[in-house]
Amino acid sequence: MANLASKLQPWWLLLVIPFLFVSNTYHCVNAEPQVPCYFIFGDSLSDNGNNNNLATEAKVNYWPYGIDFPKGPTGRFTNGRTMQDIIVQLLGFQEFIPPFATSRGQEILKGVNYASGSAGILNESGQHLGVRISMDMQLSNHQSVISTIVEMLGKCAASKLLGKCMYAVQIGSNDYINNYFKPEMYNSSHLFTPQQYAAYLIEQYSLKIKTLYNNGARMFALFGLGAIGCTPNAMAVHGTNGSACVEKMNTAAQLFNERLIPLVDELNSNSTDAKFTYLNPTGASAANSLGFTVANASCCDIGSGGDLCIPGSEPCGDRSQYVFWDAVHTSDAWNEVIAVEAYDSESNAIAYPFNVKKMAQLPNNNDADGDICEMGENSGVTV
Ligand SMILES: *[C@@H]1O[C@H](CO)[C@@H](O)[C@H](O)[C@H]1NC(C)=O
Ligand SMILES: *[C@@H]1O[C@H](CO)[C@@H](O)[C@H](O)[C@H]1NC(C)=O
Ligand SMILES: *[C@@H]1O[C@H](CO)[C@@H](O)[C@H](O)[C@H]1NC(C)=O
Ligand SMILES: *[C@@H]1O[C@H](CO)[C@@H](O)[C@H](O)[C@H]1NC(C)=O
Ligand SMILES: *[C@@H]1O[C@H](CO)[C@@H](O)[C@H](O)[C@H]1NC(C)=O
Repeated sequence: MANLASKLQPWWLLLVIPFLFVSNTYHCVNAEPQVPCYFIFGDSLSDNGNNNNLATEAKVNYWPYGIDFPKGPTGRFTNGRTMQDIIVQLLGFQEFIPPFATSRGQEILKGVNYASGSAGILNESGQHLGVRISMDMQLSNHQSVISTIVEMLGKCAASKLLGKCMYAVQIGSNDYINNYFKPEMYNSSHLFTPQQYAAYLIEQYSLKIKTLYNNGARMFALFGLGAIGCTPNAMAVHGTNGSACVEKMNTAAQLFNERLIPLVDELNSNSTDAKFTYLNPTGASAANSLGFTVANASCCDIGSGGDLCIPGSEPCGDRSQYVFWDAVHTSDAWNEVIAVEAYDSESNAIAYPFNVKKMAQLPNNNDADGDICEMGENSGVTV
């Protein structure tokens, strides 16, 4: 992979390609989405309410979160939509994907969002913040959703549907932010060098992707880690030592990404009946042209040393100028920039080997003529 280093440069220093917004082009009334269903696994970058009733500090179903979201505070860790919300809109869905915690009835046939704030690839990541739904538990929640879908559709039709869905996995930041880089609470940095830790995480990650595959997933959008050393919180907590960001954090995240890319290659060549792609939108092409003027401070009031918005506090006025909503999570405006990149960037550094749009269009084995459901009720998902 050419020049991964450039990916973790502070993105607002990079520029500038004229950029086209597509925000209003996806409201095609009654059009079918480009994939029939979209499942989401991840952390606070994608959570849309799964933590609301858990005993955790990592929940945000309070004002001013959601100030720019039609339903107000929902548990999304931003002022409006998450990046995954916007990708779902770009794919042509009329509704957002419901959180596992409250999903009901037929809506699960269009996908479920299992993401949980503070969760990681490793079970223990984020545990100092309280209860969270780790990647393993998200996979077991998916198993129970599959069982319900099988009850609704029968095993064969369920299997066919699940094979056409897109599966987005965006997880790993908390294995660094709320594990490796909290050495006073977690032992991982004493046990592993950053290289060893990245290798260990990717090994665990790979097992979880195989579990999803064994549960009938055939189209995987795997998101790399962003510049975790450039958040206002990281810079306040760790100090930048004269750099633009906390370099040791960005370097560690880059080691993870550098191993995720060859994993994607390996998965694609080993599992020819499935498609895997690596996505890591940076917003680099858009940052300056779109008028983001503040990239080192949060829009909302986080108090001193905090990372989440103070409940009930008044946020900044012009939210579209801020990269960060709170001290860790990006704003709706920024999420739109990176969602558009993941959806249709032609750059291999951002989408490799496919962007989301292209992957959705790829021929799918489950479309193969003949009704596989006629051919044998036993061809199906493991439930
Ligand atoms: C993580 O938790 C899951 C169940 O929640 C368990 O099956 C798994 O063995 C645990 N993994 C590790 C490494 O402890
Ligand atoms: C490190 O921490 C994990 C999780 O808290 C624990 O299971 C493990 O035993 C610890 N290992 C060592 C060597 O202390
Ligand atoms: C800070 O930067 C200096 C000069 O680049 C370097 O020598 C030093 O090791 C850095 N300190 C830390 C704590 O990273
Ligand atoms: C791909 O297949 C090779 C050869 O069977 C195997 O060694 C490797 O572990 C597989 N990789 C993955 C990611 O499944
Ligand atoms: C953010 O950057 C601006 C301009 O580069 C600088 O004036 C300001 O002090 C910085 N704020 C923080 C919180 O670092």
